[in-house]
Amino acid sequence: MQEATYQKWNAQVTAWIDEAKANILEHFHEPLDVEQKSGRRDLVTQVDKENEQRFVAHIRESDPTARILGEEGLGDNVQDDKGRLWIIDPLDGTMNFVKQRDDFAIMLSLYIDGVGQAAWLCDVMGNRLFHGAKGLGVWLNDDKMTAPANLPLSEGLAALSGPLVTHDVDHMQAIAAASLGMRIVGSAGIAFTKVLRGQQVCYISYLRPWDFATGKILAEELGLVVSTVDGQTPTVLSYGVVLVATKQAQKAIVAMQTA
Ligand code: IPD
Ligand code: CA
Ligand code: CA
Repeated sequence: MQEATYQKWNAQVTAWIDEAKANILEHFHEPLDVEQKSGRRDLVTQVDKENEQRFVAHIRESDPTARILGEEGLGDNVQDDKGRLWIIDPLDGTMNFVKQRDDFAIMLSLYIDGVGQAAWLCDVMGNRLFHGAKGLGVWLNDDKMTAPANLPLSEGLAALSGPLVTHDVDHMQAIAAASLGMRIVGSAGIAFTKVLRGQQVCYISYLRPWDFATGKILAEELGLVVSTVDGQTPTVLSYGVVLVATKQAQKAIVAMQTA
């Protein structure tokens, strides 16, 4: 993406995210309207829906030919990754929002023909906006980020999803044991930010497109790897166990699958 095009999108998307943050903060001290989706741990609130509705309206106005894949289904029925595609998670970590009012994120990204172009990941309570574009780099608020150190799994903290560890899916307990310690934050977006910042060497979870599409663009731009546990590249419409890691940690995790 050309820098001028990115700057134009960045100004617009930042304003949309500010609006979504304001909406979240308006509801902050009120009881939320919480519904279950697939089960008692899969929640949606009116704030998730309102945010998605506003993002969809803004994108329709600014990028009318693009399609939209939104978690709450207010965009398009997207079955392929052709053309311009915006992917939205209007509130990532809804359980954290409901129970903790902390550690939740907003994520938007633009793909063209399946290739990530630009991404915005907002850690709402941390006041941190991670944003960037393919070939241009990644910023944390106004500061350009540098690539995190390529540490091995044995020298870093590993963020793993609770259910994957509990059921020992894909050798998750051995991965935890090989690291310096396991961490669970409960928001894919926030977990991605910790790997982007070099605070953790990997994050592994069962993820859907809106959970990893945005973080993938930012991570790859910073020299990190996003793959399946057996080293395959997930397409942007994939559902499954996805990891983001330093190159060395990813190699160790993949090797543990066949050991
Ligand atoms: C969830 C969170 C959680 C992850 C789940 C996601 P949501 O997103 O990112 O950390 O483990 O797989 O679905 O539903 O709160 O946007
Ligand atoms: Ca969500
Ligand atoms: Ca999510």
